[in-house]
Amino acid sequence: MCGTRLLHSGPRSAIVGLALFALLAAPPPPASAAEEPGRDVPRDEHGAATAEHQEQVLDKLMPETDVSKPPPGFDPILWAAFIPEDNALTPQRVALGRKLYFDTRLSDDNSVSCATCHDVTRGFTDQRAVSEGIGGQLGKRNAPTTLNAVLLQTLFWDGRSPTLDHQARQPILNPVEMGMPDGAAALKAIGDDPEYQKMFKAAYGREMNYEDLGRAIGAFERTLVFMDSPFRRFLAGDDGAISAEARTGWELFNAKGRCMTCHPMNPSNPLGTDNRFHNVGVSARHQDFEGLARQAIKLLQEDPSEQKLDELAVGTDMSELGRFMVTRNRVDTGSFRTPLILNIAITPPYMHDGSLATLWDVMDHYNKGGEANPFLDGGIEPLALSEEEIDQLVAFLFTLTDVRFAEENQRQLGHQQAVAKKERPIRDEAMASRLTLPFEQRVMGAKSTDQ
Ligand code: HEC
Ligand code: HEC
Repeated sequence: MCGTRLLHSGPRSAIVGLALFALLAAPPPPASAAEEPGRDVPRDEHGAATAEHQEQVLDKLMPETDVSKPPPGFDPILWAAFIPEDNALTPQRVALGRKLYFDTRLSDDNSVSCATCHDVTRGFTDQRAVSEGIGGQLGKRNAPTTLNAVLLQTLFWDGRSPTLDHQARQPILNPVEMGMPDGAAALKAIGDDPEYQKMFKAAYGREMNYEDLGRAIGAFERTLVFMDSPFRRFLAGDDGAISAEARTGWELFNAKGRCMTCHPMNPSNPLGTDNRFHNVGVSARHQDFEGLARQAIKLLQEDPSEQKLDELAVGTDMSELGRFMVTRNRVDTGSFRTPLILNIAITPPYMHDGSLATLWDVMDHYNKGGEANPFLDGGIEPLALSEEEIDQLVAFLFTLTDVRFAEENQRQLGHQQAVAKKERPIRDEAMASRLTLPFEQRVMGAKSTDQ
């Protein structure tokens, strides 16, 4: 639980590290800038850009991708580690997955698709605090981006899904998301479409089935690799790729801010996640952990299915228990997987409950040492960052956006700056500058004077 381990363990993570290292060793040529979606786009009833519009934008973002080859810069053998044995990437599978990703027929009321909540024009999220599913129902969690999700070791805020292929089958059946009663109903909804029959055959060489539906969507998502940020160019040796302010922010990220203990960003891990679970005090703001934990244990004993877990995690207050719901281990109470922070500027609002509107709010949260609770990660404590240092850290976070989203990045900068100027609801300077001995000195035995 303590946030001091920089390296992952296990063979897959070693491979991931190597793969990303290889990637950085050979930076790809700059991607062509796609036309950025304006705010004036045609929208559907849930506020997402229409599927047609999203597909047009996607075509511009990813022209003529040859999926039999790894993304630019990835070593082919190492890239293969991200592809399941039973789901090799083929153009047919990606094409099928892409069609499914945008298809609202996979929801019970024909109004919601994956793209409703993972909208191409909004950083592959919905840019809402919590997501809206069928019948206008709101879930309890913020939709993370599907960008670069292929590189994560577990999926969902609590890591309850092991692969993209498995993950894709959950929202379709979740009552507050797409609301299909079961996989058979989802297949039935699209089964009469001769185009799907043809595409499933071409992709998997057998009759349509729910597992292959998940596999196809996973295959499509594996093509969403967007890592070409100014920061990466800076790491590869181009000092001028980011501003002096952002460079100081990067130093703070690694030192005074201590962000790198959980969000490692380096040549072998440019995602900015340790793939581990931590309680940084977000849920502690408004929850009674003990009562929720008792409730969760009871309900999961009655029905231990993965569908039930998905339902409770996304649709009820038990969401706040985080990783505990998966492991039923007390130390995981209120813990969530460290999110990847690539492209972070274009996926507000922030945290598992979408409770923080801007990256300045995120900094205010960390600066005051999170929210006290018995399960708070040992790596979280007041940081005594000045306003200038907060601005520098935020400037750094804005350099993590893929250059193909440069325009939305700029728009977000203006927008978040304006919001933060007006309102910093959780800023607490007294708490942030609490007199406290540096962590290192306390580890060496000095007595803290801060309590
Ligand atoms: C109603 C909104 C909604 C719909 C529809 C939806 N999602 Fe999500 N998605 C979410 C939310 C909210 C989460 C976080 C849930 C959690 O962590 O418990 C999530 C999580 C994910 C993740 C995990 C990302 C990570 O960082 O761990 C992936 C991948 C994903 N969704 C893909 C999909 C796909 C594929 C579909 C369509 C089959 C889909 N989603 C449909 C809202 C939605
Ligand atoms: C102890 C581990 C830890 C430390 C230290 C840490 N983080 Fe995090 N970070 C997390 C976790 C876990 C979350 C998700 C928490 C939640 O939603 O409840 C998170 C969330 C975030 C988010 C929001 C991501 C999103 O998609 O909503 C940003 C941005 C972020 N951290 C940046 C930072 C910065 C900058 C620092 C240093 C000042 C930092 N973090 C320090 C673990 C950590």
